Amino acid sequence: MTRLDGKIALVTGAGAGLGAQIARRFKEEGARLIINDVSGEAARKLAEEIDGTGIAADVSDSSAVRAMFEQVKSEYGHLDILVNNAGFAFKPGDDELVARVNEVPFKQQEELMAGGPIETHMDVTVAMSDEDWHRMISVHLDGTFFCSREALKIMNPQLSGSIINMGSIMGTSGGTGTNYCAAKAGILGFTRSLAREVVTRGIRVNALAPGFIDTGLTEPLATVRPLIEAQTPMGSFGDCDDIAWPAVYLASDEAKFMTGQVISPNGGYVMSQ
Ligand SMILES: NC(=O)c1ccc[n+]([C@@H]2O[C@H](COP(=O)([O-])OP(=O)(O)OC[C@H]3O[C@@H](n4cnc5c(N)ncnc54)[C@H](O)[C@@H]3O)[C@@H](O)[C@H]2O)c1
Repeated sequence: MTRLDGKIALVTGAGAGLGAQIARRFKEEGARLIINDVSGEAARKLAEEIDGTGIAADVSDSSAVRAMFEQVKSEYGHLDILVNNAGFAFKPGDDELVARVNEVPFKQQEELMAGGPIETHMDVTVAMSDEDWHRMISVHLDGTFFCSREALKIMNPQLSGSIINMGSIMGTSGGTGTNYCAAKAGILGFTRSLAREVVTRGIRVNALAPGFIDTGLTEPLATVRPLIEAQTPMGSFGDCDDIAWPAVYLASDEAKFMTGQVISPNGGYVMSQ
C-alpha cells in the first residue's frame, strides 16, 4: 500500500521543474495524475510518461480553468489533491531585469566593503510596467484562486481533499521583485483563510514555501548564485525532490492534522515562517 493509493491529483504547471517532480512522486505513491501546463506539449509529454491526463490551460484564465475542471469532473468524477504550482519569475525579454538581479548585489557589496556609501541601487519597482505587475499577480494569485474555486466544486460535496499552494521564501523574507514577492505573500494569506473556511468540510489547505531550488526558473540567476549560496546555511540550492517529498506528505493522510500551515524547505535561508 502506497501513500496516495488511488487518489486523483491535479498539479498545475507540471510540465517542468517542481510540478513535474511532484507529479512523478505522486504517481510512484499510487496517485492518478492530471498534468496541467500552459504548454500543451509539456503537459502531454509528462502525461504520457506517467500515464496521466494532460490538459493545456493558462491558470490565469478563469474560463480555461473552468473547462479544465469540467473535464476532470467528467473523466474522473472525483478530485483528492490539487497542487497550485504554476508560476514564473522571469519572462522572455526580461534581460535588463535579469542583468540587474545578477550584477547589482555584487556592486553593492563592493561599495560596502570599500567603506560605502552604496551608490548602485536595485531600482526594479520604479521601472516595473503595469503589465509586468498584473501578469505576475494574475498567474500566481488569480491562478491559485481560480483553480481552488473550481476544485472546491468537486471537493466540497466529497467532504474531503487536500489543496497545496506554492508559496516561496520570497513571500516572507522579501527579495528582488515586488510583484513576485507580493504574489507569494498573497498565496500564504489565501492559504490560511481558505484553510479556516473549508476545514468543516474535511478539506485541508497548506502551502509550501521553497527556498532556491534548481529548476528552469532559477537558471537566470547563474551569476548571483554563489552569493545566494553563501547566504544559505546549507551552502547550495535545493533539488526538486526537496519540494516533492513534502508535497507527498501534505497530500497524504499522514498530514491529517495539518491545515493552514507553511512548510519551507530552504536550506536554512529563512528559519521562521
Ligand atoms: N525554483 C525555485 O527556486 C522556486 C522557489 C520558490 C517557489 N517556486 C515556485 O514554484 C513553482 C514552480 O516553479 P519551478 O521552479 O518549477 O519553475 P519552472 O519554470 O521550472 O516550471 C514552471 C512551470 O509552470 C508552467 N506555467 C507557467 N505559467 C503558467 C500558467 N499561467 N498556467 C499554467 N502553467 C504555467 C510553465 O510552463 C512551467 O512548465 C512556481 O510557482 C514558483 O514561483 C520556485
